[in-house]
Amino acid sequence: MLDVKLFEMRSFLPLPYEEALAPRLKRAQEKLQTGSGAGGEFTGWVHLPRDYDKEEFSRIQAAARKIQGDSQALVVIGIGGSYLGARGVIDCLCSPNYNLKKKNTPNVYFIGNGLSADALQETLDLVADVDFSVNVISKSGTTTEPAVAFRFFREALEKKYGKENAGERIYATTDKARGALKSLADAEGWETFVVPDEIGGRYSVLTAVGLLPIAVAGVDIEALMGGAAQMMDVCANGSYDCPAWKYAATRYELYRSGRPIELLACYDPAFRFMSEWWKQLYGESEGKDGKGLFPASVDFTADLHSMGQYIQEGKRLMFETVVRLGASNGQLYVPRDEADGDGLNFLAGKPMDFIRDRAMEGTLLAHTEGGVPNIIVEADGKTPEALGQLIYFFEYACGLSGYLLDVNPFDQPGVEAYKKNMFALLGKPGYEDRKAELEAKLNK
Ligand code: PA5
Repeated sequence: MLDVKLFEMRSFLPLPYEEALAPRLKRAQEKLQTGSGAGGEFTGWVHLPRDYDKEEFSRIQAAARKIQGDSQALVVIGIGGSYLGARGVIDCLCSPNYNLKKKNTPNVYFIGNGLSADALQETLDLVADVDFSVNVISKSGTTTEPAVAFRFFREALEKKYGKENAGERIYATTDKARGALKSLADAEGWETFVVPDEIGGRYSVLTAVGLLPIAVAGVDIEALMGGAAQMMDVCANGSYDCPAWKYAATRYELYRSGRPIELLACYDPAFRFMSEWWKQLYGESEGKDGKGLFPASVDFTADLHSMGQYIQEGKRLMFETVVRLGASNGQLYVPRDEADGDGLNFLAGKPMDFIRDRAMEGTLLAHTEGGVPNIIVEADGKTPEALGQLIYFFEYACGLSGYLLDVNPFDQPGVEAYKKNMFALLGKPGYEDRKAELEAKLNK
């Protein structure tokens, strides 16, 4: 089972903060469990790993099998919470090179997560000569980036298969009743999956939002949900036996003691998009009302050769949360070389994990000595079950952290500001006054 370890934390936080924070964590726990805190209407993810819609889950599995059978590629269109979780899990469990590997599951391409014409064209080219399907994902059904991308891919599908057959290859994941995407899907008869009302985008990876693309890539989504359910049971116990309590309390105390930046580090490059998912989860949940840790991420050991300098000796602003994924799926042993021209024979016969783990320990000691506190999250391995535990753990700790900070961890009012400006500058009807005002500012 996932665990949280604190390395020499007393030298950074000498006072027994655990006891002092326990009553506040208890209140935060109560709010999450009962949905009685700020944004409580968006706590549907808390009991999701057991309460999920089993009928829809079977439809997701059936749709995944159909896509695996009739498509060489799945184009997943979505942004933010409608994108990062699925990409994180697929990269982590199937490899960032998943699309390049020999396999009997479709390639999965993510698009609609930006506004680059080149990225769009490249993905259109990648699917031009293969059979493909599209999963368009948007809770609101109105987000510009995915909506624009969907126009291109719907057109490409219709050109290739004709309007009616194209419809058999479109899967829409959206609100159960509202939004342009839902209306379009109903009118066109596309298969739809639901983003539940009570689950916000960044907490939605274990709904159809994440599960359909993840299942198409061949990941066992029952095991993923099973892992999340195990962690849900652990978190239901409101005490420091729960790793989410330990993590939330320590990061809050580090924040209060003058460290406004949290660096998430992992020694497996396959984790990179899980870190992106984590950044959205914590950044959007905590960064408001002038408060919140700034979530950043590093890939070790690669970034030890770039950001490592700043972490070791730069301004003392940060602490690290290191995710350890355990043993690699396969072991590789360093070859012996009789000539030993590179002087590496002292490592001959040693597994790569042995070298990685010594690098991890060396870095832990160096960074801690350099004044960077370390929290260690030990996962059970790189399996669907372990990742399910990790996802739920981070979500739960995020909810607790938001309530410790006294913010609403489930809204994101700040995301609207750029959208309003963009709509005005693009000439969207209804934004005429703002357009003139903004253009005057830009042309000053
Ligand atoms: O967490 C969130 O709410 C956001 O990141 C959304 O997921 C993102 O803006 C995409 O929204 P939608 O799914 O409505 O297209």
